[in-house]
Amino acid sequence: MSITTVSERTAVPALPVSVRGVGRTFAGSNGQAARRVLRGIDLEIEPGEIIAMIGPSGCGKSTLLRQISGLDAPTEGSIAIADTAVTGIDLRCAVAFQEPRLLPWRSIERNVAVGLPRGTDSAAGAERVTELIDLVGLEGSKQLRPRQVSGGMAQRASLARALARGPGVLVLDEPFGALDALTRLRMQDLLLDIHAAEPATIVLVTHDVDEALYLADRIVLLGQVDGAEGSTIRRILTVPGTRPRDRGDATLAGLRADLLEGLGVHSYHASTPHASSPHSGSPHASSPHGGDAANGDPTSSGDSDSTSPRTRTVAAPDGAASTTKDPR
Ligand SMILES: Nc1ncnc2c1ncn2[C@@H]1O[C@H](COP(=O)(O)OP(=O)(O)O)[C@@H](O)[C@H]1O
Ligand SMILES: [Mg+2]
Repeated sequence: MSITTVSERTAVPALPVSVRGVGRTFAGSNGQAARRVLRGIDLEIEPGEIIAMIGPSGCGKSTLLRQISGLDAPTEGSIAIADTAVTGIDLRCAVAFQEPRLLPWRSIERNVAVGLPRGTDSAAGAERVTELIDLVGLEGSKQLRPRQVSGGMAQRASLARALARGPGVLVLDEPFGALDALTRLRMQDLLLDIHAAEPATIVLVTHDVDEALYLADRIVLLGQVDGAEGSTIRRILTVPGTRPRDRGDATLAGLRADLLEGLGVHSYHASTPHASSPHSGSPHASSPHGGDAANGDPTSSGDSDSTSPRTRTVAAPDGAASTTKDPR
């Protein structure tokens, strides 16, 4: 079944997301003071846009994603999907995490079926699962159990499960963070194929600046500003050019240096024209690969994921100029 058929038959239109004045303070426990993690987040996400969030470990990226999907509620401000407030777990939004979280006793195919909306007709459900298995390139592995497939294949199944109900918004929390470097690159291409076939709005957290530059329309840098408690948006950077992008594009290399500078990594590409950022010096800066143990240690053993369903010819760089916006 072709991608076009999947898209035409089942994809729900991509939905816009509005994040307005969002903050989150966690109540202190055992006598500890309350802790403000997020403050003053304003972000309007267009339907079908791919947004990458980056920022130091612990700055509140996952908290913000949880709020968009309704797994957590802001203590200040509000979030809406397509102008309807998010007030609890929101079925218009699907989530996938770094760990595939598959049910070990179920086949890959039946794990994907877990994501179908309740009450789906069994024939329609079976057809939808087949479409998705096809889309993520798991036709040959659909009868296997999760322990019998590679990490990359398990993550493909996790993405297919998230897509099963045709979400208007897809929220991905470091989805490729546990994969080896090569599988990760393949998964990035797969995600773009998925987005072309089922163009949901995507909000993605990553520690990988290159991943953000390759995938995103805009990159949102979260972190502390002026030492105030709680992270907010430090920068929003619009990534130039159309996807698929050339990973070696010189413009992207300049933006990479700029973003690393924003994360407090000052020594990279010191000679590039973009290396000097007005936003350097975050007191909580960390390397994009060094913030979390889970992200800094790619696992290559047993994860040779050579079943990418499509190969991609990377387009020539179009040389479009970059624009950056600083909300401060
Ligand atoms: N339910 C919770 N209760 C208390 N503190 C929390 C809770 N969830 C997250 N936090 C704290 O909020 C901060 C941000 O966490 P998180 O959003 O996971 O950061 P990131 O994803 O950027 O690494 C962390 O210090 C974390 O301990
Ligand atoms: Mg996180």
